[in-house]
Amino acid sequence: MKETVATIRKTSLESIEKATSMQEIEEIRIKLLGKKGEITELSKQMKGLSQEERPLFGQTLNELRDVVTINLETKKEELKNIEKNIRISKEVLDITLPGRGIEVGREHPITETTTFLKEIFLNMGFDISEGPEIEKTEYNFDALNIPEAHPSRDWQDTFYIKENEVLRTHTSPVQVRYMLENKPPFRMICPGKVYRSDYDVSHTPMFHQLEGLMVGDNVSFANLKAILTEFVKKVFGETKVRFRPHFFPFTEPSAEMDVECVICKGDGCRLCKNSGWLEIMGCGMVDPEVLKAVGYDPEEYTGFAFGMGLERVTMLRHGIDDLRAFFENDVRFLRQFK
Ligand code: PHE
Repeated sequence: MKETVATIRKTSLESIEKATSMQEIEEIRIKLLGKKGEITELSKQMKGLSQEERPLFGQTLNELRDVVTINLETKKEELKNIEKNIRISKEVLDITLPGRGIEVGREHPITETTTFLKEIFLNMGFDISEGPEIEKTEYNFDALNIPEAHPSRDWQDTFYIKENEVLRTHTSPVQVRYMLENKPPFRMICPGKVYRSDYDVSHTPMFHQLEGLMVGDNVSFANLKAILTEFVKKVFGETKVRFRPHFFPFTEPSAEMDVECVICKGDGCRLCKNSGWLEIMGCGMVDPEVLKAVGYDPEEYTGFAFGMGLERVTMLRHGIDDLRAFFENDVRFLRQFK
C-alpha cells in the first residue's frame, strides 16, 4: 500500500505540473479526490487494516491529500495569472480614441416654469399644496358648484374612472381639500397635472395648471387685482394687463386676465389674433356656494381664486408656438432651456 501511495503521489504531482488549463486541473481533482477518486478509494481500504497499521496509514493518506490539494491550488493560481497576462497582452488601448461625453440633463421647460412661478407666490406668502390626480366627483365638481347638467361634467370632456371618480379636470378640487383642512385666513397655490378628453393642435389630454386661492375676513377683488398684476409683472416684466368679465361656476364675479401681447406689444399679430392681448388666466371671487360647501360662513369670509395653464405660460415666456413640442421631448428642443 505504501507503494501505491508513492505511485499516486508521483503521478498526480506530475500531471498537476503538466496541466495547462483550469479544466484539466478540475479533472485531476475529481480523479484523485472526487467521490470515486483514487485517494478516496484508498481511504476506504483502511477498514481492512490492523489497529496498529491504521493510524500510520491514515497519516500517510492525509499527507498525500494535503500535498495534492496544495499543488492543485498553486497550479490554479499560476494558470489564472497566465490567462490574465495573455488577456492583458491581447488588449489594445487606443488612447487617441475620442472620449464618451457625459450628457447633462436639463429641467423640462414646464418644470422650470412651475418652479419659477412657485417661487414668486412663495415670496408673496402663499402656501403650496398638492392633491390627487384621481379625484372624487364631489371635489372636482359638486363642491365647486358645478351642477350635474354642466357641460364640463360630460363624458366627452372628463375621463371617468368610476361613476364618482375622475381624472381631475382642473386643480380646483385641491382648493376644496385645502379649505376642508385649514382655517382662514390663508393663501395657497396648487400646481399639478390635469386631464381632459381633448386632443388637437392646441389641446393635449394631460396638461398642467397652477391654481391659487386666498381666503380671509376682508379679501376683495382689489386684492385679486393687486396680487395678480404683481405676479404678471414678475413673470413678463412691466406690461399692461386687463380683466375681462367671464363665467366660472365656482367664482362670482369671474374674470379672465389678459396681458399685452408679448410679441407685438399690443399692435396685433398672429399670436394674439390681432387683438393685442393674450389670455393668461381665469379668476374671480370665490362663490358663496363654494364657501358653504366646505363649511365656511360666506358672511364671515370672502376669497379670490385663479387658475392658469402652465403650458400656456411657458409658451408665452419662451415664445414657443407649438404645444406639441412639450410632449415630443426632442432633445434639441429641450436643450434650449437653461
Ligand atoms: N378651474 C378653472 C379652469 O380649469 C380655472 C379657474 C380657477 C378659474 C380658479 C377661476 C378660478 O379653467
